[in-house]
Amino acid sequence: MTVITNIEDLRVLAEKRVPRMFYDYADSGSWTESTYRANASDFQKIKLRQRVAVNMENRSTASTMVGQEVFMPVAIAPTGLTGMQHADGEILAARAARRFGIPFTLSTMSICSIEDVAQHAGQGFWFQLYVMKDRAYIERLIDRAKAANCSALVLTLDLQILGQRHKDLKNGLSAPPKLTVANILNMMTKPRWGLGMLGTKRHGFGNIIGHVSGVDNMGSLSEWTAKQFDPALNWGDVEWIKQRWGGKLILKGIQDVEDAKLAVASGADALIVSNHGGRQLDGAQSSIEALPAVVDAVGSQIEVHMDGGIRSGQDVLKARALGARGVYIGRPFLYGLGAMGEAGVTKCLEIIHRELDLTMAFCGHTKIETVDKGILLPGTFPT
Ligand code: FNR
Repeated sequence: MTVITNIEDLRVLAEKRVPRMFYDYADSGSWTESTYRANASDFQKIKLRQRVAVNMENRSTASTMVGQEVFMPVAIAPTGLTGMQHADGEILAARAARRFGIPFTLSTMSICSIEDVAQHAGQGFWFQLYVMKDRAYIERLIDRAKAANCSALVLTLDLQILGQRHKDLKNGLSAPPKLTVANILNMMTKPRWGLGMLGTKRHGFGNIIGHVSGVDNMGSLSEWTAKQFDPALNWGDVEWIKQRWGGKLILKGIQDVEDAKLAVASGADALIVSNHGGRQLDGAQSSIEALPAVVDAVGSQIEVHMDGGIRSGQDVLKARALGARGVYIGRPFLYGLGAMGEAGVTKCLEIIHRELDLTMAFCGHTKIETVDKGILLPGTFPT
């Protein structure tokens, strides 16, 4: 049995244990996947400055994101179909995040419902909203998130239309999976996954089924999204959602400085520099490359977060040094979940925390709050 020491170990195990269709859904990007790959590889270009003979006792990674205390400045990103990586996946990940003292963000497209997850989540229970054409449904969804005590709303702005993902189309992605011969044969090689699924009733989109009239047989994900997502979404809708919600609002999917300025004008509490993990506009800049210009333009007016390509605690530190108050992890926690359920998400968070803590110390800091660009080697990071 391999000893798990890094995120790549979790990915390898998840690939063995999760049915092909759902593993591919997590571990892929759109079109050529160039942005997906650049998100992670661009972190490697940034070099750290090693410092020595600095007192490294009494270290702390504690910080805040939108005013809420976090054990480290890392939140779980919203990911659709998480309950297909592992039975009851959203509940398990929310529990692991609660124990670790970091926020968990539940996707609109989750398998477990807001109400189910609320019973297991901690104070940092955030809800991610996609805007659908049916505005009455959106109003109900916002009200459900309020009733479930979600302490921030993450409004995703970069998925009015769906980026083309070859693997999902070829695999005929759907939840629950279609029982084709190929799928059945593949699932038979994943007994742990299958047993988990037999033991839960949560197999469809928990926030949607039973809450939208006529949506009880959704067909493939891409067909459904093409019908329900609103290509006409605009900044007027952001204003309307902000008012209806009334709490902390985080705008997700900002890459461009002009959009970042509009995000400030909207009165949101934070924005996330994100390209949806390279799943939407292939050919877009990596998030870590896009981050400094956004921080430079609006960082004094709004909290700037980022996601995309974080695969270690070192990446968290680099993003923080470049001005991100907090970051989100998508695939890393999904790999942990697919590999070992709740224990795998905990393992993922432990790995990232340990790497963050040690790297911070090697760079001569004992508190994450004091980390800035000074830990980076000039000329190796985007400005
Ligand atoms: C996502 N992402 C996403 N974002 C969102 O706002 N709502 C969603 O439902 C989803 N669904 C989703 C599914 C899967 C399988 C992945 C991998 C990603 C994007 C996600 O929140 C985040 O932006 C990226 O995952 C960050 O990149 P990394 O950490 O995966 O590299």
